[in-house]
Amino acid sequence: MSIIELTDEQQMIQDVARDFAENEIKPLASELDREGRFPADLVKKMAELGFMGIFIPEEYGGGGMDTLSYVLALEEICKACASTGVVMSVNNSLVADPIYRFGTEEQKKKYLLPLAKGEKLGCFSLSEPAAGSDAGSIKTTAVKNREYYIVNGTKNWVTNGPEADVIILFTSTDLSKRHHAVTAFIVDKETPGIIVGKVEHKLGIRASSTSQLIFDGCRVPIENRLGEEGLGFKIAMQTLDGGRIGIGSQAVGIAQAALDEAVSYSKEREAFSQPIYNFQGIQFMLADMATRIEASRLLVWQAARMKDRKMKFTKQAAMAKLFASETAMWVTTKAIQIHGGYGYTTDYPAERHFRDAKITEIYEGTSEIQRIVIANQVLKEYS
Ligand code: CAA
Repeated sequence: MSIIELTDEQQMIQDVARDFAENEIKPLASELDREGRFPADLVKKMAELGFMGIFIPEEYGGGGMDTLSYVLALEEICKACASTGVVMSVNNSLVADPIYRFGTEEQKKKYLLPLAKGEKLGCFSLSEPAAGSDAGSIKTTAVKNREYYIVNGTKNWVTNGPEADVIILFTSTDLSKRHHAVTAFIVDKETPGIIVGKVEHKLGIRASSTSQLIFDGCRVPIENRLGEEGLGFKIAMQTLDGGRIGIGSQAVGIAQAALDEAVSYSKEREAFSQPIYNFQGIQFMLADMATRIEASRLLVWQAARMKDRKMKFTKQAAMAKLFASETAMWVTTKAIQIHGGYGYTTDYPAERHFRDAKITEIYEGTSEIQRIVIANQVLKEYS
């Protein structure tokens, strides 16, 4: 419970997401993780619930709600299964959002509509084997050739890569100009010349898929360019500002799940003839876990509200992601500690939450990148 009031609509979406997550996702989460199986059926159901394009206007196939509704729903989904959550997060934040914000009317009709309805799935392809944090140094090239760009290069760490139908792709149209020549495209995955490369075996979020995408002479029509040539870096950064709110929310969901498990275990487990929650050593951990989660959630909600109010939210999104992801890592570590030896086994979900938490400190900008973004904004405020 929070003092921050939600509208009836926001409350409703949170309730729907909570019921769905609790009843349909949570019972499958351990199995999906163990088998590393993509949750295709759950993604279909999320589409039916309108979760794959929550804040996209209804005229473009979305739910017509706001970013706060999105993070409320996403937290609930991630509380049950962080893998299922990231599929939803990428489709909303990193694919539907940039097409809505930067796409032409034709692109919105052709691509946004089916993506926001969840009839198609999207992925975001920026990072490369040798360019992650330094996104301005990407080497995938797009060379204009009459009505096409010819794309060559290898992309890494693409969430949804194997399953996606549509790729938001970042290329360079002039390698000598670094970020000034980054150019974005909306690419049909079935275009000849696209190969799904190595599919990663991961520590956590094992039910979501992450792969390389290899572009080998792939011809992308000019009308599929997203924004002008050279504006791709800004499109990527502004898209990631929104994406970081989603990952913050994912981290809050993971941390909340770990706290819920830790409290319930501390009530059932006895030591020295009493339930372990009686011990201050446990209580202090629970208190710190709950406090950090609450602070994280408020940061996420603040960033979401600022996005909804069309305010500049770069700093707040980075703060929300940084604090929530480090909280998720800290809270899940404590949750295992409270479970003792059992927490270290796959008999309890605590270890899954711990493994899932780690990625939130890495993808969509590492914690170190978030600190750079925050520091840049803070220093600007004092200049
Ligand atoms: N909004 C709008 N414009 C922005 C911006 C923002 N948030 N951030 C930077 N810019 C603009 C700057 O104003 C600047 O513009 P000018 O050229 O007009 O001056 C330009 O972009 C370059 O900015 P910088 O000089 O700050 O760029 P940089 O090269 O130093 O990089 C960075 C800055 C913050 C480190 C950036 O590279 C970055 O965010 N790196 C991390 C990338 C990242 O998050 N990758 C994750 C990929 S997605 C993923 O994880 C996989 C998945 O599937 C989920």
